[in-house]
Amino acid sequence: MNPVADTPDPQLHPVDKSPVVLTSELRKVYRTGFWLNQQVVSLKSCSLQVYPGETFGLLGPNGAGKTTLLKLLLGIIRPSAGRGLLLGKPLGDRSVKQRIGYLPENPYLYDYLTGWEFLEFAAGLFQITRKIYRQRIPELLELVGLSQTDARKKSMRRYSKGMLQRVGMAQALINDPDLVFLDEPMSGLDPLGRYQMREIILSLKKQGKTIFFNSHVLSEVEQICDRVAILAKGELICSGSLGELLGTENTYHVKGEGGDAEVLKKRIPDLKYEPDGTWHGILQEDYYDFMSSLRLMGGKIITVNLSHISLEEFFIQQIQNQTKSK
Ligand SMILES: Nc1ncnc2c1ncn2[C@@H]1O[C@H](COP(=O)(O)OP(=O)(O)OP(=O)(O)O)[C@@H](O)[C@H]1O
Ligand SMILES: [Mg+2]
Repeated sequence: MNPVADTPDPQLHPVDKSPVVLTSELRKVYRTGFWLNQQVVSLKSCSLQVYPGETFGLLGPNGAGKTTLLKLLLGIIRPSAGRGLLLGKPLGDRSVKQRIGYLPENPYLYDYLTGWEFLEFAAGLFQITRKIYRQRIPELLELVGLSQTDARKKSMRRYSKGMLQRVGMAQALINDPDLVFLDEPMSGLDPLGRYQMREIILSLKKQGKTIFFNSHVLSEVEQICDRVAILAKGELICSGSLGELLGTENTYHVKGEGGDAEVLKKRIPDLKYEPDGTWHGILQEDYYDFMSSLRLMGGKIITVNLSHISLEEFFIQQIQNQTKSK
């Protein structure tokens, strides 16, 4: 399986394209407790790259350090060690802020404002002229699927979670950023809302934007991302394209009868016997080689199912392996 060393695919990343996000051995230790004498290591030594136009998914269980990494990249917190570049500038450099959009994990939206007023406020922070934002706000509302009436008439304290997430997304795009950071963009959305968020992310991708997002919704990640990385307990345990991580090989789930149990066990490590004498499991060798040796052993195949490992299965395997190795 792909190690942490993140080798770019030369076809996806021509040599002249330098990464828009680059981190090297980034580490964050929080000091906590009344005397600040306790330490929480949130990120251990994180090295990764994201290339222009990519949709990059950062996955990991709760408390893995995903939001910490995003905050480091955005310059909201400072690293304890290591370094990084964002759009070619050191982390925290103010000159890149105009080119970045950010949807925080729990966006604090001034809930006495209407969605429209809040977006005007956000536009003001980027010194976007009235002429431009009067045109851009309706376009963004259309993109995120929030009605103009709700945006203009209702204060945000009367918005549902899904509506707030949509305003948050519009706010992240108000400055027409090249690089968009989204922390759990699917959070709190119903299946239709998740589908719409996926469509929004895909349309941003079509516009050539680079998207870096944290998510727990692996089925969505699998459909959107070019590359993913898995973070667990502050450690980057793997990264790569979905093809590299999940492989293109098929998995054979076989069911059969007869044959030598000892030999079968070597080839099907998860072999299970049923009371009727049939057995089944996932084959760990070439299917056709297995068929011929099974025939020689006097056994036969009853059914074969082909499948691909899903991102969710891969994710669970990786997290379990990490837990076992500790
Ligand atoms: N300001 C802070 N002070 C102390 N510890 C913190 C602080 N922020 C985060 N942590 C700790 O750092 C670790 C990583 O937290 P982080 O929020 O980055 O995780 P996450 O992967 O985003 O989790 P989730 O999926 O729940 O959002 C956790 O153990 C958390 O308790
Ligand atoms: Mg988080």
